[in-house]
Amino acid sequence: MGRLLFFLIFFLFLSLPNSSLSSFSFNSSTPLCLSDQSSALLHFRNSFSVSNFRFSSCDSYPPKNSWKMGTDCCGWDGVTCDTMTGHVIAVDLSCSRLEGPIHPNTTLFSLRHLQRLNLAYNYFYGSTISSKFGGFANMTHLNLTESSVAGRFPDNIFHLPNLQLLYVGYNYNLTGSLPTYNWSTPLKSLRLSRTEFPIDLPNLISNLKSLKELYLRGCNFIGSYPTFLPNLTQITSLDLSYNNFGGQFPWSLLNFEVLTYLDLSGNNFIGQLPEVRTNLTQIFSSNNSSNSQLVNKIPSNLESLILSNNLLNGTIPSWVYTIPSLLDLSLDNNRFTGQIDEFQHNSLKYLDLSNNNLHGHLPISIAKLVSLSYLNISFNNISGPLESVMFSKLKTLQIIDLSHNPLLSFSNYSIVDYTLPNLWDLHLSSCNISDFPDFIKSMESLRELDFSNNHIKGNIPIWLLEVGKDSLSSLNLSYNSLTSIRHLPWKNLQVLDLSYNFLQGPLPIPPLELISFQSQGII
Ligand SMILES: *[C@@H]1O[C@H](CO)[C@@H](O)[C@H](O)[C@H]1NC(C)=O
Ligand SMILES: *[C@@H]1O[C@H](CO)[C@@H](O)[C@H](O)[C@H]1NC(C)=O
Ligand SMILES: *[C@@H]1O[C@H](CO)[C@@H](O)[C@H](O)[C@H]1NC(C)=O
Ligand SMILES: *[C@@H]1O[C@H](CO)[C@@H](O)[C@H](O)[C@H]1NC(C)=O
Ligand SMILES: *[C@@H]1O[C@H](CO)[C@@H](O)[C@H](O)[C@H]1NC(C)=O
Ligand SMILES: *[C@@H]1O[C@H](CO)[C@@H](O)[C@H](O)[C@H]1NC(C)=O
Ligand SMILES: *[C@@H]1O[C@H](CO)[C@@H](O)[C@H](O)[C@H]1NC(C)=O
Ligand SMILES: *[C@@H]1O[C@H](CO)[C@@H](O)[C@H](O)[C@H]1NC(C)=O
Ligand SMILES: *[C@@H]1O[C@H](CO)[C@@H](O)[C@H](O)[C@H]1NC(C)=O
Ligand SMILES: *[C@@H]1O[C@H](CO)[C@@H](O)[C@H](O)[C@H]1NC(C)=O
Ligand SMILES: *[C@@H]1O[C@H](CO)[C@@H](O)[C@H](O)[C@H]1NC(C)=O
Ligand SMILES: *[C@@H]1O[C@H](CO)[C@@H](O)[C@H](O)[C@H]1NC(C)=O
Repeated sequence: MGRLLFFLIFFLFLSLPNSSLSSFSFNSSTPLCLSDQSSALLHFRNSFSVSNFRFSSCDSYPPKNSWKMGTDCCGWDGVTCDTMTGHVIAVDLSCSRLEGPIHPNTTLFSLRHLQRLNLAYNYFYGSTISSKFGGFANMTHLNLTESSVAGRFPDNIFHLPNLQLLYVGYNYNLTGSLPTYNWSTPLKSLRLSRTEFPIDLPNLISNLKSLKELYLRGCNFIGSYPTFLPNLTQITSLDLSYNNFGGQFPWSLLNFEVLTYLDLSGNNFIGQLPEVRTNLTQIFSSNNSSNSQLVNKIPSNLESLILSNNLLNGTIPSWVYTIPSLLDLSLDNNRFTGQIDEFQHNSLKYLDLSNNNLHGHLPISIAKLVSLSYLNISFNNISGPLESVMFSKLKTLQIIDLSHNPLLSFSNYSIVDYTLPNLWDLHLSSCNISDFPDFIKSMESLRELDFSNNHIKGNIPIWLLEVGKDSLSSLNLSYNSLTSIRHLPWKNLQVLDLSYNFLQGPLPIPPLELISFQSQGII
């Protein structure tokens, strides 16, 4: 018997791959996965088929080749074991192309020690979440974002005694009811965006005292309104976007000192942004402050301020330009007036002030926003001329849209000797441009170029034919006063609009790729 056992163990060792063998024999603090746990994991994963469904949030779909029977599951991609006991305590199978329902008796539930489970971005079409999910006593993080689970969410998950993070957003048919009283939970992070949960916001907030992150985009609110919110003193990230809220947002309820992420876009909020009570003399000497609220602190930790698509008006207050860590400023599609001030820091990556009533020159500090990738100030009254050299240091720029600023032009006097290697979209439609600005000369990766509805006269310059020779797919030069174009050298051009110009003579033969070619109005 003893001899048999010896041989069994001996063969077991031989059949193990080197890595797990060495980790077992030379590092006793890293125990091997327990065999029932590896088979439970494999059984769970193999109960799904491979989906072809693509998620925009997944950069890649890691193949998880390491998941093989007979190997140490603690070394598998996405699996974490407790270093003392060897129990599987975390499983990350997000973006794993799993497709099919989650069985109510799935072997996943035998992994009783799980603390973190991430199944986001898979396609469990229409699975109901079994109440057995509420049986993971030590679960702290449950991430089921956009995984097509439906049906009714089990109440007992909300009462898990250790649950800190619950992401179930973008499960469009998911419903359930949040506990309404005596909900004692350490929950810090709750994301229910685009689900069917009926949400009573004041109740939710007063129950969740330790909440730091709350994402409720496009939710189903019942009889609640942010004005009646209790103070959101702990909240660092708040998303109430696309909910049809209106009126003045109660700015003073937010703790601006700790706020890092605020998205209120797609509502009907009115009025002005608050003024910061830093210098009382300054505020009360301004004749515009009567209608705006006061807050005590500059939101100095804010990274995203997203207020797009509301009815906000007045000038953009100066504190907005002084936030040191701001990455995303989206105030587009509101009614802001006045000038754009100078940015005091260089942190911005995303700047959208489009579709407001802003006027004056672009602030020269834009030239220093070295991390900027998106710049959209279209549909305003910004006036030019803009120095071409303005963009020379912005090597990460991908998209510029300054269209529909009827007073905007470019000065071509500076010597342009820079490239923007990442710029692929340039929109300068409906401005006051009379020459192609020379800063586009060396843009090698342009895919879309729009100069329509300007005042560009004469022949299309030879150098323009070199711009984006291999990359350009859409070129719009309509509604100008161009008189000739020699040839169309762009290999990958798919959309070309030359209509409403004064082009004469036979047109060059368009490239084969062309899908749409507009030339009506040509003489
Ligand atoms: C054993 O593994 C643990 C955890 O991976 C590590 O911290 C430790 O340095 C390792 N010890 C040896 C002797 O390799
Ligand atoms: C939830 O899953 C998504 C997709 O993997 C990931 O981006 C996100 O960081 C996860 N969040 C947490 C807290 O696990
Ligand atoms: C789960 O239940 C179904 C039917 O109810 C059964 O076919 C299947 O074998 C069960 N799976 C496990 C892992 O017990
Ligand atoms: C939960 O955590 C406690 C404290 O760390 C531990 O004693 C207990 O065994 C854990 N339970 C499970 C099922 O992992
Ligand atoms: C939601 O449920 C309806 C009806 O039950 C179904 O037709 C639809 O496909 C579901 N949508 C999603 C995103 O699962
Ligand atoms: C809620 O908690 C309070 C205080 O702990 C208690 O007095 C009350 O009975 C509880 N209510 C319910 C319905 O459990
Ligand atoms: C919010 O906090 C302020 C100052 O601490 C307090 O005066 C006010 O009553 C609080 N409002 C609510 C709704 O709790
Ligand atoms: C406050 O603002 C007033 C008016 O702009 C200015 O005269 C004063 O110096 C400022 N005070 C401080 C402490 O900055
Ligand atoms: C006050 O508002 C008017 C019109 O909205 C604007 O022209 C002016 O610059 C504003 N003044 C201050 C100090 O913000
Ligand atoms: C507010 O002050 C600005 C100058 O700072 C002045 O042009 C404007 O007419 C004033 N508006 C009102 C309503 O007093
Ligand atoms: C801003 O909008 C509010 C509410 O619609 C209005 O009462 C106020 O006069 C507006 N203020 C400015 C400066 O346009
Ligand atoms: C810029 O903003 C306008 C108005 O909000 C929008 O219609 C347009 O698509 C944006 N341009 C780009 C390139 O994203």
